[in-house]
Amino acid sequence: MEMTEWAIRILSAETLEDKLLTPPFLTDETPGAAVFWKEPKRPPGMAFRNRKREEKLPPFHELSDPDKRAVCLHRFAGHELLAVEIMAYTLLAFPEAPKRFRKGLANTLKEEQGHVRLYRKRLNELGLEFGDLPLFKHFWAHTPFITSPLHYVSVMNLTFEQANLDFAPIYGKCFARYGDDDSAKLMAQILKDEISHVGFGWHWLRKFKGEESEWDAWTKTLATTLLSPKRAKGFYIHPEHRTKAGIPHDWVERIKNN
Ligand SMILES: [Fe+2]
Ligand SMILES: [Fe+2]
Repeated sequence: MEMTEWAIRILSAETLEDKLLTPPFLTDETPGAAVFWKEPKRPPGMAFRNRKREEKLPPFHELSDPDKRAVCLHRFAGHELLAVEIMAYTLLAFPEAPKRFRKGLANTLKEEQGHVRLYRKRLNELGLEFGDLPLFKHFWAHTPFITSPLHYVSVMNLTFEQANLDFAPIYGKCFARYGDDDSAKLMAQILKDEISHVGFGWHWLRKFKGEESEWDAWTKTLATTLLSPKRAKGFYIHPEHRTKAGIPHDWVERIKNN
């Protein structure tokens, strides 16, 4: 299947199975003209909803309750589905991006589909189906600001996914503390993949940045979006995961102070 056709199928899918369709062979011979997809179609009951103030994630001290852990896992599954859709958006938006970038992006998309499946399985074990709880627009609201491949790596890989290098291990530790090893293992898998997704972003930031420093290219790109470096971290920074992703130490210090 052509990557463009795959991306269109994902964004217009009305079943979760179609959102998670992973063709065994992908080609990229006719990427076509650029398309900036407005909003993804969603399976029944999974449409974007406005988040009410009270629909916050349960606090850590309540996560001894498996139902509360399931609420967290459902929210994270929603983030994974958004990642799938944003990556499909990016494949459609930049048909002329380097082939190797598109291939790497397609591989990341497949891993995000895998993450949805992993969360779904764990949710089922906890007695919940993916879609039972509300799903929000969240990261999709940033797609109009993804106007180049440099914007994509800056927004998705180096901001949202970089922040997950802090959030995934914190939730993993918390789940383990309450004896939920299966959910903790799931978070460890997510973290491992996320390190490589951030690494992909770092690699391509260096290719796309031109003469500027990586930091200037990233922050200047973010300045044209709704984001800032503040969004690239959790409340506790894990330098070791950033190092594994190739992010240099001076970034850690600068992100800490931002
Ligand atoms: Fe993911
Ligand atoms: Fe990711």
